[in-house]
Amino acid sequence: MPGNILIMDDEQNYLLVLDAILSDAGYKVTPLSDPEMGLAFLEESEVDVVVTDMKMPKFTGKDVLDHVKKHYPHIPVLIMTAFGSIEAAVEAMRTGAFDYITKPFSNEELLLSLSKAMQYARAQQENMQLRRQIQERFGTNNIIGRDKSMRHVLDMVHRAAPSRSTVLVTGESGTGKELIAKAIHNESPRKDGPFVSVNCMALNPGVLESELFGHEKGSFTGAVSRRRGRFELADKGTLFLDEIGELSQDLQVKLLRVLQERRFERVGGTEAVEVDIRIVAATNRDLTKAVADGSFREDLFYRLNVVSIPLPPLRERREDIPFLAAHFLDKFAKENSREFKGFSPSAMDYLSAYEWPGNVRQLENVIERCVVLSSTDTIDADDLPPEIKDEESQFKSAVDLLPTKLDLSETLEKIEAAVIRRALVKADFIQVKAAELLNISKSLLQYKLKKYTISAK
Ligand SMILES: Nc1ncnc2c1ncn2[C@@H]1O[C@H](COP(=O)(O)OP(=O)(O)OP(=O)(O)O)[C@@H](O)[C@H]1O
Ligand SMILES: [Mg+2]
Repeated sequence: MPGNILIMDDEQNYLLVLDAILSDAGYKVTPLSDPEMGLAFLEESEVDVVVTDMKMPKFTGKDVLDHVKKHYPHIPVLIMTAFGSIEAAVEAMRTGAFDYITKPFSNEELLLSLSKAMQYARAQQENMQLRRQIQERFGTNNIIGRDKSMRHVLDMVHRAAPSRSTVLVTGESGTGKELIAKAIHNESPRKDGPFVSVNCMALNPGVLESELFGHEKGSFTGAVSRRRGRFELADKGTLFLDEIGELSQDLQVKLLRVLQERRFERVGGTEAVEVDIRIVAATNRDLTKAVADGSFREDLFYRLNVVSIPLPPLRERREDIPFLAAHFLDKFAKENSREFKGFSPSAMDYLSAYEWPGNVRQLENVIERCVVLSSTDTIDADDLPPEIKDEESQFKSAVDLLPTKLDLSETLEKIEAAVIRRALVKADFIQVKAAELLNISKSLLQYKLKKYTISAK
């Protein structure tokens, strides 16, 4: 694994030796005795690993390390220290050096340490590239997912997309199941093929069967001609089976057969139709429960659940709320030819604290409404619909955030202390005012301040 190494050492002789050893090992080496030149070189060249001496006259190894960490955090830095200056090396490690070697060192030591650094550099580069690719790809799908849980989802999408494996996307209503299904399609080698979507709940079982599998002419009254079903229409593409949990028992059996054999007959037909499709299914029902109570076939569940992507409800990824809100504000502002500066802090507080039972879709609707109704260029708390500002809901969100330990009096005391602190801040530490906000007497407040050892400034 060759690579580019920049070496900085003020001792020319050392540089020559290092250059010889490393060039022999196949690396492309740039030896520089002036670290400032080294930093300039970094700016315009591709360097995989930086090797620097610690003690140099003007610019020390520590300065080099700090500079690289700040501007090229992905490049590992290997520090060389003189025998006996171990503290400096330890300090360098603490501030982020990849490794250190103590002079004099053997060739083996140097090469081993370098090859580790090189491996690390490669991994970092791959990660960066991957992240860039993910951003580019998902950028086109317009999926917002900054929260850790959503990054995990997007990562799963990225990994599952290239295969033909069936994917089951689960999550509450409005969490983005269809969006994820489309992303899987757009990411897959089938992206130029059709994305065909069927809602298993919207149609009654008889109609759904002929929707899915098509029918032959005369197979039932009204079947005046042969018609291709969604399975056929999705050939070479992706079939999205939405609300799969609502599929009737009879159709569950038929779907299972198609999944196993990749072929089926049209309603009223005998000829087997073969299709090349990838299936993505979605449901907001808990299918394991449905399997347990017998309303969903276990064998079908396992066929569908080859790769499962659970989408977290919005209230469990609140970090995404500001980004989603900004994204939708942008979208609806454009649609309505309006310009907005953004959200007022209090509006954002409400949005971030709300429960969002309808998840991302509800947030999207709320922002659309704000855009349409707002008369200024900032979305303010006044523009928000009343349910968002509902105290009960704020309370529920607060309860969500409580620690798992549920000792009642301990929990309540902590909450009480927190509320009191908040009231004090709000009242500029004027106790009468704080007591008023808390709706308690001043003497009770004073008692509680003592009890919780809260200093009232
Ligand atoms: N992460 C996200 N980034 C941007 N937009 C999103 C995101 N998640 C969902 N949306 C948007 O929210 C709306 C609802 O998403 P979608 O229809 O995919 O949800 P769903 O889970 O299929 O809902 P339902 O269960 O009600 O069918 C869509 O307009 C979608 O574009
Ligand atoms: Mg949906």
